[in-house]
Amino acid sequence: PPCLSPSLSLSLPVSPSSPSCLTTSLHVSPLRLSLDKLRDVSSRLHKGLVQGLGKHSHHRAAVKMLPTFVRATPDGTEKGDFLALDLGGTNFRVLHVRVLQAEQKVVKMDSQICVVPKDMMTGATQQLFDHIASCLGDFIASQELKGQTLPLGFTFSFPCEQKEIDKSILIRWTKGFNCPGVEGRDVVTLLRDAVRRRGDYDIGSVAMVNDTVGTMMSCGYKDQSCEIGMIIGTGTNACYMEEMKNVKRVEGEDGRMCINTEWGGFGDDGSLRDIQTEFDQMVDKTSINPGVHIFEKMISGMYLGEIVRLLLLRLSEEKLLFKGQKSEVLQTPEIFQTKFISEIEEEDTGLDNARRILTQLDLQWDEADVRVVRLVCDTVSSRSARLCAAALATIANKMRLNRGLDRLQTTVGVDGTVYRKHPNFSEELQLTVRLLAPECSITFLVSEDGSGKGAAMVTAVAQRLCVLFPCLHFLIKSYMSDLKNE
Ligand code: BGC
Repeated sequence: PPCLSPSLSLSLPVSPSSPSCLTTSLHVSPLRLSLDKLRDVSSRLHKGLVQGLGKHSHHRAAVKMLPTFVRATPDGTEKGDFLALDLGGTNFRVLHVRVLQAEQKVVKMDSQICVVPKDMMTGATQQLFDHIASCLGDFIASQELKGQTLPLGFTFSFPCEQKEIDKSILIRWTKGFNCPGVEGRDVVTLLRDAVRRRGDYDIGSVAMVNDTVGTMMSCGYKDQSCEIGMIIGTGTNACYMEEMKNVKRVEGEDGRMCINTEWGGFGDDGSLRDIQTEFDQMVDKTSINPGVHIFEKMISGMYLGEIVRLLLLRLSEEKLLFKGQKSEVLQTPEIFQTKFISEIEEEDTGLDNARRILTQLDLQWDEADVRVVRLVCDTVSSRSARLCAAALATIANKMRLNRGLDRLQTTVGVDGTVYRKHPNFSEELQLTVRLLAPECSITFLVSEDGSGKGAAMVTAVAQRLCVLFPCLHFLIKSYMSDLKNE
């Protein structure tokens, strides 16, 4: 039998039963999760979802299950010009988006990227929001939009308790952001205050959007059966249309509402301790938010490179890699970028890429090392894909049972660099979902800029509903004040 797993047909140039191969296996095998284990993870997540939806249990739930107050997906009649802001990954973007009803198209008219310097991600609140307001101001001026007050969709991809479509309280920062003093505050007020401080332009109505919701909505314009949005990028998360009768925190029994699951927080109550390896624990411990977003830290792009680095470091310390040379390189946090994993796993060019990357990192490698490094990358990315699959299957199975269907047919809008760029990720994820949710036929639709165009779409749908039912805003407000138990 091969040394570690079928993927070791990557052919380690050492005998499968050699002591070094077996020791390598000892470190790598805890990351290989069987289907039974994934089923077990899925049933734990299902309990988490129910707890998060519960009237009396949501306060202590690790999976937040946040109501988004998005009750409708696009119906094709939306139109107009919008501004969109996108904060949540590595950069901040401002976009001018036009929704064309006649062609059922969302067109990006123009956009601008503003770098958010690393120290700003953890610096003073006012500095961050002044930066956002200044990028927006420059963009509005460059587009000659000054004087027009366009509606604005703000994709803010962090867990927020949405009080109204334009009131969104940050629960906590994730993904490298940690500006003190924002948690517990309304992000729209912080933005409006910053715009007011500048005083040279104004903004219209604001709709706050999580990137998962934007992704679902942008795909929903093309495919009206899109009822799940999923992101696997710097962070990970999903949203889906839940039956109102199950959303115990919000008044009303009829119809559906999009729930932002914030599944990245799964495990924050210790429920994933058995599958966390020493490397996961280390990544968590040395992060800026220990104990927070445990599931995300096993899956998303911000952390995968670090998990690989720590595994390589351990293997070299045990003299199983790089001739056991004491390498300072591998002790440098973030030196092994997540994009290296994708490059090393490329089918044709992967081994050459591995040789190039190891040389660039100044590591003294031989051919056996190259293959072990590829195996480590494969193990870490494949675990990520399988864990995501378990989580997605949990949602799909829940939606099927909610609706009392023998078979659920649905579409998932997906985005994120890990899903898009990794050579095998999407295939492994889809294959595993089919095994874990055999009664669900899921179509995967890669979103075209859900965080930009999708935000405009959420704003457009909110506007459509307001035009159709002018009292809707009022209705939403009264729903909000009826939030059960708050
Ligand atoms: C955030 C989510 C977001 C996800 C993907 C997570 O860290 O908590 O709100 O959807 O990243 O960007």
